[in-house]
Amino acid sequence: MRKRIVAGNWKMNNNFEEADDLIAGILDDIEKAGKPDDIQVVLCPPSLYLELATDMLLDLPVSAGAQNVSQFEGGAYTGEISAQMLASMDVEYCITGHSERRKYFNETDEQIAQKVNSLLSESITPIFCCGEQLHEREVGNHFKVVQEQLSKGLFHLRKEVFKKIVIAYEPVWAIGTGVTATSGQAQEMHAYLRGLVRDQYDDLTGDETTILYGGSCNSKNAADLFANPDVDGGLIGGASLKPGEFMSIVRSFHN
Ligand code: PGA
Repeated sequence: MRKRIVAGNWKMNNNFEEADDLIAGILDDIEKAGKPDDIQVVLCPPSLYLELATDMLLDLPVSAGAQNVSQFEGGAYTGEISAQMLASMDVEYCITGHSERRKYFNETDEQIAQKVNSLLSESITPIFCCGEQLHEREVGNHFKVVQEQLSKGLFHLRKEVFKKIVIAYEPVWAIGTGVTATSGQAQEMHAYLRGLVRDQYDDLTGDETTILYGGSCNSKNAADLFANPDVDGGLIGGASLKPGEFMSIVRSFHN
């Protein structure tokens, strides 16, 4: 059975104290109300706080993820953080191909593919983001856009290696806008993405690939989105910054 995951993408938010409070708030919530055993919870704070996160999460059923990684292995790349460094800090997941990195940092599909390779070589699970912009959906190009993103960013991988990948469908028009994809739009795209994986590899690989939804997902709409057969969880931005809100999204599977 495929993994179900709810991951919080904090983006560039919170000072050190706030980061500490947020992790403590989530752990406190879990201690009081429990965490569904079958849902993997991942926190992706800014890299600077990864050590704090891995320390606080030690021996607990919550994983730490990074928001970015260098495509290079190491050396003279000022300001960059390598996959090997992340692995040495017990980081288990890393977001790649997020639309904000594609847009503001001009990340190309080729660089994203290199980042995926670096992460996999360190046994870190890439959370590979894909998704179309509004104008692309309006002209009916959304399927083609995500197909190209997967084929350039992921489909160079051998089947055995691809099994480690988590995909996140994040329509750009839904990120941080308060406009969520409808449950039907999410299911339609997730089924399409799963079909692409089946075609590229085989049915079993398609069936076992975790596909998350991201884009203005919150405690009000999560249950509806997660009820879809091809939606295996969420990549949560704004709503991951409040412990109660984030944890009620985690529990939405069982509502
Ligand atoms: P949002 O962001 O939940 O704030 O829309 C999601 C994301 O960018 O991963």
